[in-house]
Amino acid sequence: MKKIAIAGTGYVGLVTGVCLAEIGHDVICVDRDPQKINTLLKGEATFYEPGLEELMKNNLEAGRLIFTTSPTIGYQDADIIMITVGTPNDPNGSLDLQYIEQISKEIGRTITRNNILIVTKSTVPLGTNEKIKEWIQSELRSPLYFHLAANPEFLRQGAAVYDTFHGDRIIIGSDSKEALHTLEELYKPLHIPIIKTDTKSAELIKIASNSFLALKISYVNALSSICEQIGGNIEEVTLGMGMDARIGTSFLNAGVGFGGSCLPKDTKEVTHLANEVGEPIRLLDEVLEINKRQELRLIDKALARFKSLKGKKAALLGLSFKPNTDDVRESVSIKMAKRLVMEGAIVTAYDPVAIRNAKRELGEIISYSDTLEQALMNADLAFIGTEWEEIKNIPITMFSEWMTEPVIFDGRNCFQLDAMKGFPIEYHSIGRPCVIGKENIIKTFGLGLG
Ligand code: UDX
Repeated sequence: MKKIAIAGTGYVGLVTGVCLAEIGHDVICVDRDPQKINTLLKGEATFYEPGLEELMKNNLEAGRLIFTTSPTIGYQDADIIMITVGTPNDPNGSLDLQYIEQISKEIGRTITRNNILIVTKSTVPLGTNEKIKEWIQSELRSPLYFHLAANPEFLRQGAAVYDTFHGDRIIIGSDSKEALHTLEELYKPLHIPIIKTDTKSAELIKIASNSFLALKISYVNALSSICEQIGGNIEEVTLGMGMDARIGTSFLNAGVGFGGSCLPKDTKEVTHLANEVGEPIRLLDEVLEINKRQELRLIDKALARFKSLKGKKAALLGLSFKPNTDDVRESVSIKMAKRLVMEGAIVTAYDPVAIRNAKRELGEIISYSDTLEQALMNADLAFIGTEWEEIKNIPITMFSEWMTEPVIFDGRNCFQLDAMKGFPIEYHSIGRPCVIGKENIIKTFGLGLG
């Protein structure tokens, strides 16, 4: 087994460290935030990720997992140091490497042994491994030989622990045969197919995979807009498409668009890279453009229905960018909340776990409720931004029971149209016909049953 240091205990670093400890390695997670480290030392996860906290506690108790703010304690005895810090977009769309540079120089100042393997797990632009090598070398106290490898992760938030143990593939990129062998041995207990390639190909596989997923989503969302014009049903269209094994069924769910810290960022990075090397992929500009339009389609539908949202009590269900996470980065729900407030609506939002993070983005421009009922009570209209199981399982009768006007705008197509037809509600969704339930027909069109 190996001594592994994890540099950065964010969404990727903490999951990676805990899972490597789980398969028997000695792991030290380093973070410069003492508050975060203190929380972790108490066995509390610093973000919501199903299954993570329990695994973390087990490995803390087993003594295979340590948390520290000290780079010296973290890096000096490590065989492998994994760089897992964030690489946010900078204004021109490329990835900001300031945290990678800081960590690399910190590693250079700290390591004292030859043959340490430095692994970049963070999503980085092509060629970053060369920069990491220079940054480390610039701070070395004495000449040392170390190996470098790119090992991008493909973890989905909300399923990151599961994906670590059940991933489709592990990608390792390096020009050092020793590095490739070391990582192959490290991951062997996971029994996941491993692709060994050069560094740049490994870095490109990551951002190309994410931008392709974004492309799939935007294409389906563009088709959903056509469905709305022709009276089609995007769910039936994607069902028919997805049965072709070459297309596949996943990532064909139409909705209000993709968010999160990865798909938008990595799509911009591929666009930036393509332009930089003189091979522009204008297709990806349109992927982002479609997504931008999609994000506010529900609000446009609501404005078309109500003419004005001024003074309307709007319930917003789901604030995280996807279910099973508390992450609100690039969350479409957050963008909808801001636009609703701009239109004069009075917004009350519910989310099972993301309210704390949402408050950092939205502050008090909206209200927050602890229950779905409280959010929907006396609402004139309701928006669904995140398809949490809890939201998908709301008894349909509750909408008409709790809301003043049961008019629903569903951005994640949580409900089957047939299931909605039997109820006195008005149901708008993405790429499917609007449903006006039976009693509403009476109310709306005054049709008598006599
Ligand atoms: C993504 C990649 O899936 C993962 O491999 C990579 O390591 C990190 O980025 P993540 O961002 O956690 O994972 O979420 P993902 O499940 O990919 O969803 C991203 C966004 O796309 C979410 O906003 C989701 O709502 C949206 N989405 C997803 C759709 O709109 N339609 C779909 O069919 C699937």
